[in-house]
Amino acid sequence: MKDIFGEALKGYLNGNPQYYLIRRKDGNSCRIDTCEYFSDYQDWNNCEKETIMAHVQGRVLDIGAGAGRHSLFLKKRNLEVHSLDISPFAVNLMKMRGLKNVYLMDLRKMDFPDNYFDSVLMISNDLGLAGTIKDTKELLKTLFRIVKPDGKVIATIRDSNKSAADSRESLYSNQERKLAKMVNKIRLRMEYNNAAGDWFYALLASKEELGKLIKGTGWFISNIIEKEGSNLYGAVLKKENDYPVNSEVKNI
Ligand SMILES: C[S@@+](CC[C@H](N)C(=O)[O-])C[C@H]1O[C@@H](n2cnc3c(N)ncnc32)[C@H](O)[C@@H]1O
Repeated sequence: MKDIFGEALKGYLNGNPQYYLIRRKDGNSCRIDTCEYFSDYQDWNNCEKETIMAHVQGRVLDIGAGAGRHSLFLKKRNLEVHSLDISPFAVNLMKMRGLKNVYLMDLRKMDFPDNYFDSVLMISNDLGLAGTIKDTKELLKTLFRIVKPDGKVIATIRDSNKSAADSRESLYSNQERKLAKMVNKIRLRMEYNNAAGDWFYALLASKEELGKLIKGTGWFISNIIEKEGSNLYGAVLKKENDYPVNSEVKNI
């Protein structure tokens, strides 16, 4: 796997081009400033601030943690933080930045004990990184197993049904919705400094679609956090009390 995201983080630290491109399969692209992944709390978007601050507690798993901005913030507040990412460079960087429980791991193959975490963070569309409806449901089922009975999944997601405020939001708009019937399965790749990563699918669900996506996985939506003028929303998932742990995930 080419670690383009890691290369972009490295470039930022070395003073090289401090942005990377996310390209959609139809050629449309947008520029992401890499400094975003190093931002402090005051520079996070309001949706992130409110979603994380109001809901995170206890032992936290930060999935797709990147350079570790949320993990570092929560560690400073004395929470026990565990951070995982698929990018080797990001994982080393998080360790260098002082995070202790850092794992080089694919979110589709997570290996943690049962009932271990109080909160799981999936910020910046990371809940969609499993790529397909089936794999996202499997991911939710794994999360159900590793999260405590009163635990939560805390996510921020772009609602591609909502109109786009800027080029970044429009990249995630309706284009490939027909592919997945209900949720927007969009084919993307990262590009940095003339190198391109592999194409991958990201799954983007509106609030209504998220409700359907989690059906049969043991989760329900307990809170939605929306901010004026953005298609990003926060979602907090909690466990259904009477959900049988090993029940089969039903297709939607
Ligand atoms: C958009 S960045 C978000 C980083 C961080 N959550 C933030 O908001 O600063 C997505 C992150 O997910 C990681 N990632 C992508 N696919 C992954 C996978 N299959 N398993 C684990 N991490 C993954 C990337 O390496 C990257 O660090």
